[in-house]
Amino acid sequence: MAGNRIICAKNKVDYITIRKAMIAGARTVEEVVEKAGVCAECEGCKAELEGILTSVCGCKKVSLEAVVNAVKAGSDTVEKVGEMTGAGTGIDEVTGEACGRCKPLIQNIIDLGR
Ligand code: FES
Repeated sequence: MAGNRIICAKNKVDYITIRKAMIAGARTVEEVVEKAGVCAECEGCKAELEGILTSVCGCKKVSLEAVVNAVKAGSDTVEKVGEMTGAGTGIDEVTGEACGRCKPLIQNIIDLGR
């Protein structure tokens, strides 16, 4: 798994905390401010928040929009979203094993439909 790092320099909020907020349903900057405590104003937030919020699967470079579209097209399980988009089917570069760390977020997108 890729190393964690601080994204919001002002409030010392790291990448994993932001992803956990997304798994809990945050999709907008305002929601990540509320759920993760980012400031949305420091250089780290300005440079990276939008990219984090619009990406679901880093391994397969699958966007939030692509996953939402797959769900709207009828993919109602993580496996079906993976078949349609590739999200969740990556291999961890370090271990060589199935990654799947984006699967909780995919499930949340299925649950919320967004
Ligand atoms: S981040 Fe999606 S499979 Fe690794």
